[in-house]
Amino acid sequence: MTSHTPSNEPPNGESPAPNAPVLREGPEPSEKRAPVPFWLIILAAVIIFWAGIQLALNSGGFRADVYNPSLVSWSGGGSGGPAVAPDPKVIGKRLFSQNCAVCHQGSGMGVAGQFPPLVASEWVVGGAWVADNHLVKILLAGMQGPVQVKGNTYNNAMPPWAQLKDEQIAAILTYIRSEWGNAAAPITADYVKTIRAASADRKDPWTQKELKAIPAETIPAGGAAPAAPAPAAPPAA
Ligand code: HEC
Repeated sequence: MTSHTPSNEPPNGESPAPNAPVLREGPEPSEKRAPVPFWLIILAAVIIFWAGIQLALNSGGFRADVYNPSLVSWSGGGSGGPAVAPDPKVIGKRLFSQNCAVCHQGSGMGVAGQFPPLVASEWVVGGAWVADNHLVKILLAGMQGPVQVKGNTYNNAMPPWAQLKDEQIAAILTYIRSEWGNAAAPITADYVKTIRAASADRKDPWTQKELKAIPAETIPAGGAAPAAPAPAAPPAA
């Protein structure tokens, strides 16, 4: 079509003829309604997608314990579970596998003639004269020489574990006292601390003979140990 023909059709990208008013009534200028450029939509989508991934990867699921530093060291493992109070048995089991299982075995049964069992051991759950204070003491300073466990005699040596923290020793002992059918009261970190302070000068591993001379003491219900030990049972032959 030619530019001088009156028409309602829009101009063909050419300037309208000056004498064609109809042509000047053509379509509205389109500048206000320009569509968002396609590349900008794609860019926005990519940024939103990327931001979503960043949130998913780095938010920790918005869990309370992620943002509570006092829980982080306990819950570890990145399992994504809910925030829970640290369970000494879980921590104790891990510490036991790392430090004790090599000798006493994961089953707690020990090795005949070399490493005594912890399952149903009077040293672990308490016996005629053995009690909680003895157990904590042998963990802190070790043990050597002849020892009777469940009627069998062992004569070997166990290294001290004083390098472990009070709460770590408490967790291990709580674990071995409640695992494999053992059922004795938990050992608290406070109690380990008390025993550690009371026997701070003890560096050599204990012998059964020496321990027998120390009056039995059971962990008090509240956790903190009183100064007064329970009266000692008469030593058996
Ligand atoms: C290097 C081997 C070894 C390791 C590691 C070891 N023990 Fe022992 N443990 C022994 C031996 C050996 C005895 C007996 C010592 C003796 O003959 O006088 C013993 C004795 C014991 C006893 C008293 C006897 C009994 O069987 O109940 C307890 C309780 C005990 N160990 C707990 C532990 C715990 C808890 C750990 C980890 C923190 C640990 N042991 C790590 C070798 C080991």
